[in-house]
Amino acid sequence: MRHVRIIGTGSYAPDNIMSNDDIAKLVETNDEWIKSRTGIKERRISTKETSSDMAYEAALRAVQAAETDPNEIDLIICATITPDYCMPSVACQVQGRLKAENAAAFDLNAACTGFVYALTTASQFLQTGMYQKALVIGVDTISKIIDWQDRSTCVLFGDGAGAAVLSATSDRRGIIASTLNSDGSKHAFLYCEAVPLSNPYVESLEERTAPSIRMLGQEVFKFAVRNVTDTIQTVLEKANREGKDIKYIIPHQANYRIIEAVAKNCKLPIEKFFMNLERYGNTSSASIGIALDELVQTGELHRGDTIILVGFGGGMTGGAILIDW
Ligand code: UT7
Repeated sequence: MRHVRIIGTGSYAPDNIMSNDDIAKLVETNDEWIKSRTGIKERRISTKETSSDMAYEAALRAVQAAETDPNEIDLIICATITPDYCMPSVACQVQGRLKAENAAAFDLNAACTGFVYALTTASQFLQTGMYQKALVIGVDTISKIIDWQDRSTCVLFGDGAGAAVLSATSDRRGIIASTLNSDGSKHAFLYCEAVPLSNPYVESLEERTAPSIRMLGQEVFKFAVRNVTDTIQTVLEKANREGKDIKYIIPHQANYRIIEAVAKNCKLPIEKFFMNLERYGNTSSASIGIALDELVQTGELHRGDTIILVGFGGGMTGGAILIDW
């Protein structure tokens, strides 16, 4: 099996900042409640960008950072739950705009674990030798499926995109181990309906309303703490590493209190957990990609550092990747 490295990252978020005070003008909430229960201070909300716009910008930055010609990309996988269209995929839209003429492209839905699922999927194509280079994107314009009158969800989320270019390498570093899991029996914890059945055989054609996210917050919280804790342990065991070997853990950026509980369960200092959720909120499929790019941009990640990317989300889904950078 060949090794697979991340050779460039990129991210994008809309300029428009929505503060907690801005949300307090829409629903009965306040800055203090949101900050103390989630750690979130503000988020970016699109005023014009679609998912394919944000995905393209993040992808372009990742491709430039990787010093890669778009023609060299063999595969584009985009993780999203908020595509512009049912078809074509966001990945195909990005492929067209990037002029990545040799790339196969498709979308994948694993909700907030999407970036980890997409990285793991892409890396399999590279490890087996089928492809040499892949572009992975996580993007969501989650604001378009939020019920802006539901204070239990609308305070949590933000829009954005993160991307990474992967390359097969003979170097003995890069992705060392990954693990994915799903539990469809818990699908009702967190969901968003799609277009309802509507055809001449259906008796009453429902009036079509825009679907929005529904969530059992406390159930998702408990699932997250348990699943992320277990997933980190699993990927450490698969890679034959220990917590002390890890420089940074980049978790899905959902809630400071979830991450704090995971750190305690794993007996790891909270400082190892990279967080930027106070500025972006929960950007769904994009959050881990945005956080990874930010960590790269800060210059704090050095060759040889070991990191873990770990996500959880609707499905329910979970997954982690251990990387020697
Ligand atoms: O990508 C995955 C996305 N989802 C998640 O990560 C969600 C995981 N869950 C959570 O993060 C937390 O459950 C929440 C942040 C959603 C809620 O925090 P909580 O500590 O579990 O609050 P709660 O649902 O137990 O509600 C406590 C109180 C309730 O009032 P009463 O019944 O005690 O009077 C809620 O009605 O807080 C109230 N409340 C709010 N108050 C002000 C709920 N939302 C708000 C709000 N502002 N936005």
